[in-house]
Amino acid sequence: MPAPELRICLDDDDLDAALRLDAKRGLTSHPRHLPMRLHYDGRGSAMFGELTKQPEYYQTRSERAILHDRAAEIAGALGAGPVSVIELGAGRAEKIRPVLGALDATGRLDAFWPFDVAESEVRDVLLDLASAYPNAYLGGIVGDFTRHLAQLPDHHGTRMVAFLGGTFGNFTGMERSQFLRDLREALRPGEWFLVGADLVKDPEVILAAYNDAAGVTAEFNRNVLYVLNHRLDADFQPDHFEHIALWDADTATVDMRLRAMKPMTVDVAALALELGFSVGEEIHTGISVKFHRGELENLLQATGFEPVGCWSDERDYMGVFLARAV
Ligand code: SAH
Ligand code: AVI
Repeated sequence: MPAPELRICLDDDDLDAALRLDAKRGLTSHPRHLPMRLHYDGRGSAMFGELTKQPEYYQTRSERAILHDRAAEIAGALGAGPVSVIELGAGRAEKIRPVLGALDATGRLDAFWPFDVAESEVRDVLLDLASAYPNAYLGGIVGDFTRHLAQLPDHHGTRMVAFLGGTFGNFTGMERSQFLRDLREALRPGEWFLVGADLVKDPEVILAAYNDAAGVTAEFNRNVLYVLNHRLDADFQPDHFEHIALWDADTATVDMRLRAMKPMTVDVAALALELGFSVGEEIHTGISVKFHRGELENLLQATGFEPVGCWSDERDYMGVFLARAV
C-alpha cells in the first residue's frame, strides 16, 4: 500500500515567519495578546489531549457521544453518493471516526483528509488510519484554516468539511464570519459543513472546564510561553504567570489570559524585544465562544449555508450542526 499523501501548505519557514509576526504584533500591543494556534506545538497538542480527559472538560465526552450515537444518521443525511471528508483542526481525528465508519460501511467513504497546523498530529493520524479504510483515499494537510481553505483537496466525491471540538468558538466574531465566507467560497453548492459547537449553559459548568482541578488547562495556557522561549529564544518564566479564565455573559465568551504574578523583564532575543511586566499585567491568550442553537444556525444561513440538522447530547452541552452549501 503506498504511503498516504501529505500536503504541506505551511512549512517551517512559513510557521517561523507567522510566529515572529504574531508575537511581535501581539506582545507590543495593549493589551498584549497571542493567537490560540501558537499553543499547538507537539507539547501543546499532547497537553490538549490530556485536557480532554479531565472530568471538568465535558466538551470532548459530549461531542464524542453525539458522533458515536448519531453517526449513521449524519452519514445518511449526506445522501447516497460518495463523500470525501476533510477535518479541519483534526488533532487526533478521534471523534469523526464513527461517521467515517458509517460512510465506509455503506461503501460511500471516498477519502479522508485530516487538516491541522500541527504536522505531528496529521502524521500520527495518517499512521493510525493507514489500514482502517482500505477502500478510501487517505491524505493529510498541514495548513492554517484561516489561510489555506482555498487549497482544500477536491477528490471525486461530494466534500464534507468537519470542524469539531468547538474550535470554531476560538474565533473572534470577525474571524468567524471571514472563516465561514472563505469556507463557503471553497465549497460547491450541495457540499457539506459539519461543525461542533459548545452551547450556552450554566456558567459554572463552563468555567470549571477552563479551571480544571488538576491544572491541565493552566499548563496548556502557559505552554504558549514555552513556545516563545523555544522558538524565539525568549526567557519567559511560565511559572510566574497565573492562568486566568473569565466568563463574559454578554458575549457568552470564556476569555483566557496569563497574568504576571511579579514584576519582570522578559527578553525575546529573536525579535530583539525587551518586555516589561508589572504585577497583574496580562497577556490575552484566547477566547472560547459558546453558542445558542438558533444563533449559530442564523450565522450559517447568513454566510451561504442551509442548516439541515442539529444533534446534541442528553444535557444539551454540545451541538453538532450539519449545513449544506447553497
Ligand atoms: N478536533 C480535535 C482537536 C481540537 S484542538 C478535537 O475535537 O478534540 C484544536 C486543533 O486545531 C488542534 O489540533 C490545533 O493544532 C488545530 N488548530 C488550531 N489553530 C489552527 C489553525 N489556524 N489552522 C489549522 N489547525 C489549527
Ligand atoms: C480547541 N478549543 C475548542 C479549546 C476550547 O475549549 O476552547 C481550547 C482550550 N483552551 C483552553 N482549554 C481549551
